[in-house]
Amino acid sequence: MANDAAVVAEGLVKHFGDVVALDGIDLTVERGQVVGLLGPNGAGKTTTVRILSTLLQPTAGSARVAGFDVEKHPDDVRRAIGLTGQYAAVDEYLTGRENLRMFGDLYHLSARYVKERSTELLEWFDLAEAADRPARTYSGGMRRRLDLASSLIAKPSILFLDEPTTGLDPRSRLGMWGVITDLVNEGTTVLLTTQYLEEADQLAQDIVVIDHGRVIAHGTAEVLKDQIGGDRIEISVSDAARVGDAVGVLRPIGTADASVDGTRILMPVTGGSTVLVDAIRLLDGSSIEVSDIVLRRPTLDDVFLSLTGHVAETEPAPPPAGGRRGRKEKQS
Ligand SMILES: Nc1ncnc2c1ncn2[C@@H]1O[C@H](COP(=O)(O)OP(=O)(O)O)[C@@H](O)[C@H]1O
Ligand SMILES: [Mg+2]
Repeated sequence: MANDAAVVAEGLVKHFGDVVALDGIDLTVERGQVVGLLGPNGAGKTTTVRILSTLLQPTAGSARVAGFDVEKHPDDVRRAIGLTGQYAAVDEYLTGRENLRMFGDLYHLSARYVKERSTELLEWFDLAEAADRPARTYSGGMRRRLDLASSLIAKPSILFLDEPTTGLDPRSRLGMWGVITDLVNEGTTVLLTTQYLEEADQLAQDIVVIDHGRVIAHGTAEVLKDQIGGDRIEISVSDAARVGDAVGVLRPIGTADASVDGTRILMPVTGGSTVLVDAIRLLDGSSIEVSDIVLRRPTLDDVFLSLTGHVAETEPAPPPAGGRRGRKEKQS
């Protein structure tokens, strides 16, 4: 039910001078759900999250978070949400524990509660040992975890995570995924932005793909893959001289012309896994020996390429040499 949803955005538009950052974004996150807002750099992810977390006002459109209008009741919205930005908002000169205390003060929480909650969060985020060291001695992954822990000090029911793993090494990324999964299992609603397909695929039940401030696709990873179609069978024949015969034999199950690369044939098909059985039967009937046969479904990368016309980033950028402050933002 729309009214009951944790986040509902309708027709969000945001202009920065001449720049149209958002051009009519619709978005719903049901309670307890993880939605992935997937898009390349400059797509409008951060702008969306900033509007939903009341840091920016939309030029047009409206949004409700936790049942409250973001423009009419920003204080109620803020009380219900946690926000972790694209860049860790950690005070380098404070220890991990002091950073958490600072956030507790911002939320006017009692000292006793903050003390207990901090200890709990530091344990959970694997920061207990480093708790009394200044954050400037932390690795990139530890800073992100501390940043996320800070946003959880007041136990928000809705969490906005803006590119929580951008710039992290693969191991820290996995750690972050684990923590996010824990949060979701505890019932937290999460809207997560990412430029990584794999991350959306791993964490999000529902994926909203945006580009140039517009929603260009929406659905589960499977639905998105189905949308562009494009299953194909890849067959390698043992005898190069029989490639032509094999293409001829397979023609009845193909939905378009096959392409051939050495002894390997790529045949576009539809019909799911039974088509594989048909292919094997046809080849067997012509005594063509097959060394390998596999049905390939499109990947989320294929989806992204087909929707946006450009390839998504699949690997994080290498960590900057001079810490996060040295990181250069790439704009597309
Ligand atoms: N404060 C701002 N002033 C001017 N342009 C902005 C501002 N914030 C964002 N933009 C522009 O809006 C577009 C969307 O930006 P953003 O929401 O940060 O994208 P993403 O987070 O997906 O990388 C980009 O073209 C960006 O340059
Ligand atoms: Mg951003």
